[in-house]
Amino acid sequence: MVEIKDLSAHVGASVTVRGWVEGTRGHGKVAFVSVRDGTGIVQGVLVKNAVDEASWGAHGSLTPESLVSVTGEVKAEPRAPGGYELGLTSLHLLALAEPYPIQPKEHGVDFLLDHRHLWLRSSQQRAGLLVRAEVEQAVHDFFYQRDFVRIDTPILTGSIGEHAGSLFETDYFGERAFLAQTGQLYVETACPAFRRVYCFGPTFRAEKSKTRRHLTEFWMVEPEVAFADSNDNMRLQEEFLSYLVERALENCSEELKVLERDTSKLEIVKSPFPRISYTDAVAELVAKGHEVTWGQDLGATDELALMESREMPLFVHDYPKAAKAFYMKENPADPLTVLCDDLLAPEGYGELIGGSQREDDLERLKARIVEAGLPLDAYAWYLDLRRYGTFPHSGFGLGVERTVAWITGRHHIRELIPFPRLMNRLYP
Ligand code: 4AD
Ligand code: MG
Repeated sequence: MVEIKDLSAHVGASVTVRGWVEGTRGHGKVAFVSVRDGTGIVQGVLVKNAVDEASWGAHGSLTPESLVSVTGEVKAEPRAPGGYELGLTSLHLLALAEPYPIQPKEHGVDFLLDHRHLWLRSSQQRAGLLVRAEVEQAVHDFFYQRDFVRIDTPILTGSIGEHAGSLFETDYFGERAFLAQTGQLYVETACPAFRRVYCFGPTFRAEKSKTRRHLTEFWMVEPEVAFADSNDNMRLQEEFLSYLVERALENCSEELKVLERDTSKLEIVKSPFPRISYTDAVAELVAKGHEVTWGQDLGATDELALMESREMPLFVHDYPKAAKAFYMKENPADPLTVLCDDLLAPEGYGELIGGSQREDDLERLKARIVEAGLPLDAYAWYLDLRRYGTFPHSGFGLGVERTVAWITGRHHIRELIPFPRLMNRLYP
């Protein structure tokens, strides 16, 4: 058996391919079947006089997604998808498929999500998930090349990572446990052991928002670097994101074509990225007639307005302390703000990264935890990092689905994760 991706090495030879039927056509004495084997798609051509009766008969009974085995000579055919064609000598039906729910017509998105386990087989979904897999591989390559150590952080936790508002809570043998909103607090503690570390895993937020940018389960990569300040942190972010884009452009050109992505929008993405302070961003928004007051976090519409006329990702840095998480370091030059940044994507994809320098002063951090209404005792271990050789450090979190949605140009991030978890969706 040969895989479709390897057909070019078999031109002129007879090969057998096993796969699922994407479609069939017939014209009197000539019939076609297109077969997908998970590595590619190839068209098989049957000429009635050249194949046995059983093969010709089998073709007549094929339904979409039936499993077949086909044998025939490999021919270069520039007009065929994939560039090759099989001149079939035999066709065997291995598993007849029941009437397939997904038709080559427009389906509503709820119908498609109900059939997500089958929708995965569609060409645009395959393309999107292949780009995701490439981006995930690129994440590991980037950090491996830079001597980061991967630290796997727990998913069941007793301390709230971000904020109390969006927690999935579960009973843990009589104790309260939460699904991790972030791996950050844990990964921070690995800095004194390994200096440069990152975690990469699923994170959970009971967000009651039904937007194109929110999932309740999403994957986040979170590096953390000892002795890095907020400025170093932004430099790492722009190098990282540029690298992910570059890798997708390099290795996923076919997929981006299937997705009809305008890649000129990605080709211009090179570090360094422009930066604007939160304070200047608010002034810009006010000048545009937006109702935003200094002190509140920027909302989705504010971010959209900021990016309207921008083609490169944009750092917005030094947000008001009151609007951000408890662990961000107070800005010595302006104690009303913290040393943090959000990296906003162009084209309406919103915040791809949130990052900050961490509060490394024990007493200030304690006060922030109390102010945030969080229980100090649950953070004793986190505070230890400030008790035993405290040090400046910074890190960030990049949302994989948002990043891949932007790279692929898909409207909604739910298509860039194999099985999306949304407020109203736990099936399949
Ligand atoms: O800005 P966030 O909340 O930052 C953190 O969790 C920090 N602990 C990261 C760190 O400094 N180590 O989330 C980071 C990113 C966002 O920029 C966004 O891309 C993504 O995670 N994200 C979501 N993606 C999909 N659905 C959601 N509900 C998301 N919430 C955040
Ligand atoms: Mg954020």
